[in-house]
Amino acid sequence: MNVHYVLSKNFPNYPKGPEFREIFEPLGDGIFNSDSDSWSIQRRIFHSLLVKNKRFDLAVEITLRQKILNGLFPLLENVSQVDMQDVFQRFTFDNICRLVLGFDPNSLSIEFPEIAYQKAFDDIEEIIIYRHALPASIWKLQRWLQIGNEKKFKKSWKIFDDFLEQCIIRKREQVGQSCKDQMEGEGFDLLTYFLAEDNDFAKVAAESGILIKSNKFLRDMAFNLLVAGRDTIGAGLVWLFWLVGTHPFVEQKILEEIKANLGAKTSEKWRVFSIEEGRKLVYLHAVICEVLRLMEEIWGKDCLEFKPERWISEGGRIKHVPSYKFVAFNAGPRSCIGKELAFLQMKAIAASVIWNYSLQVVENHSVSPNVSVLLYTKRGLKVRVLKRFAP
Ligand code: HEM
Repeated sequence: MNVHYVLSKNFPNYPKGPEFREIFEPLGDGIFNSDSDSWSIQRRIFHSLLVKNKRFDLAVEITLRQKILNGLFPLLENVSQVDMQDVFQRFTFDNICRLVLGFDPNSLSIEFPEIAYQKAFDDIEEIIIYRHALPASIWKLQRWLQIGNEKKFKKSWKIFDDFLEQCIIRKREQVGQSCKDQMEGEGFDLLTYFLAEDNDFAKVAAESGILIKSNKFLRDMAFNLLVAGRDTIGAGLVWLFWLVGTHPFVEQKILEEIKANLGAKTSEKWRVFSIEEGRKLVYLHAVICEVLRLMEEIWGKDCLEFKPERWISEGGRIKHVPSYKFVAFNAGPRSCIGKELAFLQMKAIAASVIWNYSLQVVENHSVSPNVSVLLYTKRGLKVRVLKRFAP
């Protein structure tokens, strides 16, 4: 009831406010850091993009499929043991950079390249938690003196901002030279969308001082969406593969569901499931919900057991649980705009990997959460990789 009160019923009384904004400084004036008019305009913009835009949906489908076929599967084919956390962090970084910036860093490859701006992005997210934990006066003093984490923070922030700036400059040049047809499907990304089109909301946004073609807006938009769409899915997948890998019965049920609903055959090499196919996977949907839930008061005494069944109704559909009970995606007016997209992407990735490979969690590899604004595991997720079906 408290969650409901704060996030929904009395929402206007609980703005993010200046302290949140200061801690999450690199988010600038982006949606996560905004309140009142600036927030509501951005919310409308991203809603129309992430929930209703067919060209964005197509770009998501194409990008995901290519990343699985050209990045993820070739990598899994060439390793016998691997840290899936590292793999998913690379996968989701490439994927979201491609969708937002129109640029694929290709960090997901068998060479496991170290890319400075990717490392910088990770460092920024990791260091932000210290700003939450330390008294404000301490981290502000560190920032002023440029020592400790604050020194590293500033350096990482600069590296990542330089990368974003290059992407924006390059995109401005490209957009100036290309015609509209080249911006469909593979050519579609969010920078292109904001730069190339005269969107209906541009005028309304301008009235509130948001200039959607300005470098400032594009930089803040890109940073916020990279945060929104990368580690959320990456971390969710890591916990999913840990739980599925340690619950063979659940894995078996996922395989049965794929076989029954998607007509998958064991003779096919590298079957990749589409976003549309993922919609048919109710049990896998329940698995993802079960991965993302936490509190005992809501889920009961068996909250530590991994039971996807608790999400499925007698009629075989997903049970509706109010968002203030299942708060992983937030609740009320600020609830996650990418929720459906997140489920669809996670389902397509998880189904494709589980169908083609058996990932076995390495014995004695202890898994526990790390301290960060994103809940990854402390020591990664080491698995042995076996092909599910011999050729
Ligand atoms: C498992 C995956 C995901 C989880 C658990 C998740 C969770 C959340 C949470 C808790 C919030 C509220 C944050 C806050 O107000 O500070 C949020 C907001 C948001 N999410 Fe997600 N998210 C996920 C995936 C995505 C994806 C893939 C996108 C789109 C690319 C996305 C876009 C957004 C946006 C734009 C907001 C800001 C909403 C607002 O402030 O009005 N999310 N999400």
